Order: sequence, then structure tokens, then C-alpha cells
Amino acid sequence: MAATIGIVGSGAVGRALAAHIVASGQDVVLCNSRGPATLEPVVEELGPQVSALEISAVAAADLVVFAIPWPAVVPLLEELPPWHGRILVDATAPASHFRQPGRYELGGLTTSEVVQASAAGARVVKTFCTLPASVLALPPANEAGRRVMFLSGDDEDARAAVGALIDDIGYAAVDLGSLSTGSALQQPDGPLAAGTYDSLLTVSVNRTV
Ligand SMILES: NC(=O)c1ccc[n+]([C@@H]2O[C@H](COP(=O)([O-])OP(=O)(O)OC[C@H]3O[C@@H](n4cnc5c(N)ncnc54)[C@H](OP(=O)(O)O)[C@@H]3O)[C@@H](O)[C@H]2O)c1
Repeated sequence: MAATIGIVGSGAVGRALAAHIVASGQDVVLCNSRGPATLEPVVEELGPQVSALEISAVAAADLVVFAIPWPAVVPLLEELPPWHGRILVDATAPASHFRQPGRYELGGLTTSEVVQASAAGARVVKTFCTLPASVLALPPANEAGRRVMFLSGDDEDARAAVGALIDDIGYAAVDLGSLSTGSALQQPDGPLAAGTYDSLLTVSVNRTV
């Protein structure tokens, strides 16, 4: 189990993930673009295992989830210091709204490939982006089993660590392998995004894969 998890972005996705992570017994530090004081109501709602900090402090965690709008990602990465092997979990999508038509043009790359190129020394893992925030906010597991959560990344140990986090919080982690292949599958208009593959909204498995 990882130490305190950093989540950059306290919107629909960041808050849903924070709630699951604290429910699994781990601490979370959160930030937004406007400073920790603006997150007091969010911290109060999520409970004592959650703290709001400045972006630089949140991004210094050993495992940092990026859950911010795509246009903010690369500018922020350019401001942050080198990652020195820390894990950057990319939950972003190259679209203004989940599953809406229209997307940011990335020259044929996935967001995670752009993130990897912009985050010196980070071990990037793509996940938490195939379900809409409304589904992410639901309990990851129910009486039928665990909801599937895909992940991909080029570093095997980082994929294992993020897979363990995914399993800890109640999903069934499904490892898709490399960033280029797995991240393309997870794009909002890719074959594994809920909606293009409707059963993923409800599919559950009873074991960790
Ligand atoms: N919504 C979905 O269904 C869904 C599903 C999967 C993936 N995604 C992807 O996940 C990401 C987050 O989506 P969301 O729906 O959670 O968005 P959201 O509700 O609009 O929240 C965005 C959060 O990012 C923060 N933020 C923006 N710019 C920032 C910066 N430069 N530094 C730090 N924090 C910053 C915002 O803070 P302020 O309020 O201070 O600006 C806000 O807390 C997006 O890339 C989206 O495409 C969304």
C-alpha cells in the first residue's frame, strides 16, 4: 500500500477517487488551481484523511494522480520539478467533456504519451479514464463483484503499484501493457471507454486479474 496519494485536481474525477482511496484506509492530499483554502468544504466532506495543499506539495507525493482538464496538463508539468522515478497517474482525457464529440489534437499521440514526454523522470500510468465521473463516484464493488479498471504504462513496477492501488480501492485492475497501446484503447472514443462498450458500465468480475 502506497504512502499518501497526491491528487492534482479536485473536480468530479479527483473527488471521486479521493473518496475511494480514503475508504481503503490511505491518506490523500488534494489541490486545485485556486489554493487550499478554497478546498475547505471538499476536505470537510471527505474527512480527516484528506488535506488540501499547494500544487507543488501535492505533486511531490510518491504517487500523483493528474485529474485536471487537458489544456492545463502540459503547462503545469512544465512548471514542476523532475519526477525522479515517482509515479504519475494520468486520468485525463483529450476532450472537453467525457464522451463528447471533439477532442484536442495531439498529433496522433495519446494524452499519456504527451504527459510522459513532458514529465521528466516520471513513470506514467494511464488509468481511471474509461468511466464517466458519475460512475467513478459509485462504489467500485457491489454484490455482483468489482467494476473493471484498465491501466497501461511502460514501467512494469509502476503498473504493479497502480494496479495494487486500484485493487485496494475496490476495482478489478486489468493491465493493458504499454502506454502507446493501452492508452489508445482507453481514450474517450476508444474501444474500452464506457459507452462505446456499454457492458463495461456494469461488468464486474469476482477476482483480481
Ligand atoms: N468528468 C468525467 O466524466 C471524466 C471521466 C474520465 C476522465 N476525465 C478527465 O479527467 C480530468 C478531470 O475531469 P473532471 O471532470 O474532474 O474536471 P472538473 O470537474 O472540471 O475538475 C477539474 C479540476 O482541475 C483543477 N484544475 C484546473 N486547472 C488546474 C491547474 N492548473 N492546477 C491544479 N488544478 C487545476 C480544477 O480546479 P479549479 O476549480 O481551481 O480550476 C478542478 O479542481 C479531465 O482531463 C477529464 O477529461 C473526466
